[in-house]
Amino acid sequence: NKIGVIFDLDGVIVDTAKYHFLAWKELADDLGFEFTEVHNELLKGVSRVRSLEILLDIGNVKLSEDKKQQFLISKNEEYLKYITKMGPEEILPGASELLDTLDELGIQYVLGSASKNAPLILKQVNLFERFVGIVDGNSVSKAKPDPEVFLIGAKKLNLQPEQCIVFEDAIAGVEAANTANMISIGIGDKKILHKADYNFTDLTGITSSFIKALIETKEK
Ligand code: G6P
Ligand code: MG
Repeated sequence: NKIGVIFDLDGVIVDTAKYHFLAWKELADDLGFEFTEVHNELLKGVSRVRSLEILLDIGNVKLSEDKKQQFLISKNEEYLKYITKMGPEEILPGASELLDTLDELGIQYVLGSASKNAPLILKQVNLFERFVGIVDGNSVSKAKPDPEVFLIGAKKLNLQPEQCIVFEDAIAGVEAANTANMISIGIGDKKILHKADYNFTDLTGITSSFIKALIETKEK
């Protein structure tokens, strides 16, 4: 098979998007402004540092570098409280089944996440060993929508970007995949992820025949 798959983590394989939201919201509460799920869309897929910048813009708050560093640490401490309690039951619907399907088809997959906590999360849910490579927030310097994370993923798969399929729940991630010249599959609200090549509500919709059809389009 001349294709490979790159998975985003948060919001695609596990529902950690809700924990990121809760941790950021706590920070916004402390700073005294409202932070909604609509605002949160802007933070999805975006690095921790960049997320804080966006959050502070939303609240129109200016902070010293020292304060920002403190908030980045406390946000992650709050987030870790949630993720260290996670187990395999928090794998999103269809994710394990999709990995099984890819295994059966002999298609390799890597992780392409902005999160520095990605290895920990994958271990919590017992999926770490299944990926042939992990690209995470520790190994990239440019955050999505920059395509860097996915281009490194393609290298780990020994494939050209055109041969890679990306599963993403974030606007920034879909943009990164498109810029990388990969097939982008938006997981979530089609209205939000309208720039994706294909849209699905969740991974339960991704069948073996859909993957095979994608392979065929690549073979033509
Ligand atoms: C993912 C999430 C973002 C998060 C980023 C960094 O892309 O979608 O919401 O801010 O990772 O995660 P980290 O675990 O390193 O704070
Ligand atoms: Mg995501």
